[in-house]
Amino acid sequence: MANQISIKPQESADLKNPGMRPFPKHSVPIPGTTSQVKDMEASEKQTNPIPADEKSVALGKKLFEIYCTPCHGFSGKGDGLVGAKLLLQPFNLTADQTKARSDGFIWGYMTFGGAVMPSYANDLSVNERWNVINYVRKVLQNGQSAAAVMPAAK
Ligand code: HEC
Repeated sequence: MANQISIKPQESADLKNPGMRPFPKHSVPIPGTTSQVKDMEASEKQTNPIPADEKSVALGKKLFEIYCTPCHGFSGKGDGLVGAKLLLQPFNLTADQTKARSDGFIWGYMTFGGAVMPSYANDLSVNERWNVINYVRKVLQNGQSAAAVMPAAK
């Protein structure tokens, strides 16, 4: 079913030139979307450049609800509906273990993924990842939960 004639993302419509379309001449990456950090070790040492103000926390909440709740749940405790189906259960992000992690560590986890957790480097920009961390720190790790309510599983 996955293999159909429709054109997939990054696939060429030109059968004679399969593969990804090359970037147009003179194109440059947009600043702020990619990062030079190459691995977890380098990530951990980074400090969070975005102050955890209201705006950042609100943005982080929105992103957390979209990208993280399926596994980590709205409370961040690892009780999402998708997470329940995984062999390795998503970690409780409000537990002492994650509280003790550096912001750079959490940023690195989103960037590179974990054993089971996928990478979010293509979904969340560099700064969006910091905003998510500000939300996790300010709200979830302070014992509050996102206001949104997930529909009950049937
Ligand atoms: C598909 C399920 C899934 C999603 C979605 C997901 N995670 Fe995870 N996460 C996991 C699992 C499973 C682990 C356990 C460790 C592993 O896989 O390496 C984990 C572990 C973590 C850890 C490590 C905690 C520690 O103290 O070691 C952090 C941080 C984390 N997730 C943050 C996030 C954030 C932030 C998001 C949203 C951008 C997110 N996760 C989305 C499944 C997920």
